[in-house]
Amino acid sequence: MGFLQKHQVLERSPTLLFIFSLLVVTIGGIVEIAPLFYLENTIEEVDGVRPYSPLELAGRDIYIREGCYVCHSQMIRPMRDEVERYGHYSLAAESKYDHPFQWGSKRTGPDLARVGGRYSDAWHVDHLNDPQSVVPESIMPKYAFLGRTVIDGDQIAALLKTHRFVGVPYTDAMIDAAEADFRAQADPDADWDGVIERYPGAVVANFDGQPELTEMDALIAYLQMLGTLVDFSTFTPDASR
Ligand code: HEC
Repeated sequence: MGFLQKHQVLERSPTLLFIFSLLVVTIGGIVEIAPLFYLENTIEEVDGVRPYSPLELAGRDIYIREGCYVCHSQMIRPMRDEVERYGHYSLAAESKYDHPFQWGSKRTGPDLARVGGRYSDAWHVDHLNDPQSVVPESIMPKYAFLGRTVIDGDQIAALLKTHRFVGVPYTDAMIDAAEADFRAQADPDADWDGVIERYPGAVVANFDGQPELTEMDALIAYLQMLGTLVDFSTFTPDASR
């Protein structure tokens, strides 16, 4: 019996055809999906990428709570118009510590993947308090209440632990120092050497310009680090891949 005749046996029996189709799809599925579990193969290591500092992580939570992602994406696609407007296209590694990721697909406002360092802290304060005061045609809502909401970071160690639980490599030392780091990053007069040591590249500042530590401080700390961790003047994609 030739090969094609053998195949006819399958084609003539719906049950056999179903079983063998399922087998083929399963093999195909395993071949495509299984390698993804070996994450070191999927996401290349990139120098500079680190977990969020406690204050940035709190800011990120506020970003999600306020639904900023509904109007803002955080993913620059490798297309010329996007790269010219926003900067180097986003790397997978840059969001590997994001749970959940903030790529998004809706751009009512601009992409924010590289907004860090583009504006001063004071600009962000004015913009969040009243976007139309700096961009008259803006349709972004006002978030002035963030600057009136004081936070003390008493939950921050637990938040870091939760992220460690899902795979972010926070060390015991980072978790023990979380509350102190949280406050120190927003207070240039504090002893913040440990913050920079544990989270290289973190910006230390009194972000909202007020004596209290507020949600505005945390949110701006987060915005100011977005897209700043990788030095693209020296970055070259891994040629072996
Ligand atoms: C209803 C949609 C909407 C929401 C929600 C929204 N924004 Fe915006 N955002 C915009 C628009 C439109 C612009 C462009 C005009 C402007 O700069 O205000 C903008 C601009 C910005 C910019 C300046 C970006 C740049 O490159 O010039 C930042 C930063 C920003 N938004 C942060 C936030 C944050 C943080 C939140 C959540 C607290 C937020 N936005 C929520 C619509 C929105």
